[in-house]
Amino acid sequence: MPDTAVIEQEALARIRASEDAAALEALRVEYLGKQGSISALMKTLGAMTPEERQQKAPAIQQLRGSVADAIAARKAAFDSAALEERLASETLDLTLPAPATARGSVHPVSQVMDELSEIFADLGFAVATGPEIEDDWYNFTALNMPESHPARAMHDTFYFPDPAPKGGRMLLRTHTSPVQVRTMLADGAPLRIIAPGRVYRSDSDATHTPMFHQIEGLVIDRDIHLGHLKWTLETFLKAFFETEDIVLRLRPSYFPFTEPSVEVDVGFEIVDGKRVLGGSGDAPGHGWMELLGSGMVNRRVIEMSGLDPDEWQGFAFGVGVDRLAMLKYGMDDLRAFFDGDVRWLQHYGFSAFDQPTLSAGVGARA
Ligand code: PHE
Repeated sequence: MPDTAVIEQEALARIRASEDAAALEALRVEYLGKQGSISALMKTLGAMTPEERQQKAPAIQQLRGSVADAIAARKAAFDSAALEERLASETLDLTLPAPATARGSVHPVSQVMDELSEIFADLGFAVATGPEIEDDWYNFTALNMPESHPARAMHDTFYFPDPAPKGGRMLLRTHTSPVQVRTMLADGAPLRIIAPGRVYRSDSDATHTPMFHQIEGLVIDRDIHLGHLKWTLETFLKAFFETEDIVLRLRPSYFPFTEPSVEVDVGFEIVDGKRVLGGSGDAPGHGWMELLGSGMVNRRVIEMSGLDPDEWQGFAFGVGVDRLAMLKYGMDDLRAFFDGDVRWLQHYGFSAFDQPTLSAGVGARA
């Protein structure tokens, strides 16, 4: 019969000296596992006489309990040390600078479209849209430019080979004016809309790109006249350029879809070598800047749009969004708008959190 006290002493010393959970587990198997030495001692009890068993069992059971307790205690120590270590290593240092995230910006064209939509919404205009791949009929014919009309040649049109449903070929719309026709046909009258969007012409230099942006305006009612057009343009330009110094010149012009047609110029003055809005336009050192085309909607357009021109009349205008952006924010090369150079966007772009509000809009004085 081995001396259980000696076994216990040795076992406890080895358990205390075990360095990690794996070493401790090996000791547990060695003493208490199925083939373990203490388990073997337990088994010897079965072969003993009752007297012998009564005499020896307490020491063996005491040995087993003591070793099992020591292993459990050591294991608990290892577990809590592991937890401590994890807690320490998983600590977040909230004072570390966060990695920089790339932030985009709002393109000046989007910004100006938003500004215009806000201003015209304030004047009671809804936003209408139409397709960029357009039918010849909407882009030209319904706007009083029948097939052989010379004004068609003024638009350097991109045509598709596909025939259009209403004659001619499909094309990339050359202006937003077809939305006039589409909206009158769809919604009837009265109406008050703007139609912002992309338009296309085969043209490219510092102030022309094959794709550019326009906003169309259309007001149809029973008694709309040129005075309404002038007031609307004046009010919109004051709000857009954030100044009361807006002097307009309405110049007789020609568009097949308006009659009379007026080209609208805005007066400027040269101050310290820079153009500043205002002034009389005609005085020395002053000048006129061409801004947009407009006029009273031609009766034939109203008729082709399904309305009775003896009952309904109104005005329309079309303005270049990119050009407005260049004037307001001072870029001088239109091509850079569409190069997709992030440095340009970082310089000229706008914050998405700094969108225009009407507090600086219609009627506000600086
Ligand atoms: N569609 C014309 C253009 O692109 C502009 C315009 C619109 C003129 C509405 C008059 C009325 O040049």
